[in-house]
Amino acid sequence: VKVHDLPTPALVVDGPTFEANLATMSAALPGDRLRPHVKAHKCTSLARRQQAHGHRGFTCATPREVVGMARAGLGDDLLLANETIDAQRLRAMANCGGRVTVAVDSDATVSAAAANGIREVLVDVNVGLPRCGCAPDDAARIADLARGLGLDVRGVMGYEGHVYVFPDRAERSRATEQAMEFLVAAHEKVGGDVISAGATGTFDINTWATEIQAGSYALMDTAFAPMVPQFRPALYVLATVISVNDKHAVADCGLKALGMDHGNPAIDSADVWLVSDEHVTFKPEQRVAVGDVVRVWPAHIDPTVAYHERMHLAAGAQLDADITDTWEIDLRGW
Ligand SMILES: Cc1ncc(COP(=O)(O)O)c(C=O)c1O
Repeated sequence: VKVHDLPTPALVVDGPTFEANLATMSAALPGDRLRPHVKAHKCTSLARRQQAHGHRGFTCATPREVVGMARAGLGDDLLLANETIDAQRLRAMANCGGRVTVAVDSDATVSAAAANGIREVLVDVNVGLPRCGCAPDDAARIADLARGLGLDVRGVMGYEGHVYVFPDRAERSRATEQAMEFLVAAHEKVGGDVISAGATGTFDINTWATEIQAGSYALMDTAFAPMVPQFRPALYVLATVISVNDKHAVADCGLKALGMDHGNPAIDSADVWLVSDEHVTFKPEQRVAVGDVVRVWPAHIDPTVAYHERMHLAAGAQLDADITDTWEIDLRGW
């Protein structure tokens, strides 16, 4: 089967570009310096490729990802970098057979972890992103509370996702440094070996963390690629042109096949006009015909992947490249 034979819309990974992204990252952050984030691809087959590049520990955003990774034999060191008080899901993680550490940022999350069999935690510190994480000066109290309930506190985590507002690297570096001052100060009081932070956009900036939680680097998207050109987009949605007139063309890849919160996707040699439920409308530079296939490059890979059941691995970037494997996106759901 060739790329252009796939029923559309279909998620396709450009294999050589994907492998180059993994190699670039493992050269910069070898082994346990990287804790790849599974939320970006939700796929144990893909995670196995990251493991083959030397990374043993993984970051997860949902209990479903944690349990699925452990069941796939990838449970050496799993971090739920997110808060949950769901007793059933906490117990499922505690009994999944892998080593599981969960993030805690409040009395309630500490109590729920301790009551449901979790043994190891990281104190999640808010370093500037308006999301989870305790106030930096509350981290020591939360660590004491956790230790008092018998939990092993491995250290701290803090996600500096707000620095992505700075496309300029120097500005992003300054914002990262400020964010990490909070995290390092909290770590001095909390103790433990781990300072977990970072993302694709700070992978070579964040030197304060002991491990970087990058996710997007493997598949990349059009929103992040200009900020970190070391990694190139390796994931597209293959779509079939289903209607053409003298002004525009329409292909069968819409909102239900694409994460759109970072803006319109890109189509090679074309201007994308709009995306609706089932359609992308675009102005091609050269005439296309009904039945042609096009590559639709998402602006945000994480939600794009979550819409699909499988991704196809292609031997090259071209539309006549062979499909060498099909990977189930098996970590979807919560
Ligand atoms: C807690 C946490 N860490 C790390 C990341 C990885 O970010 P990226 O996909 O930009 O590498 C995310 C992404 O949203 C995240 O939520």
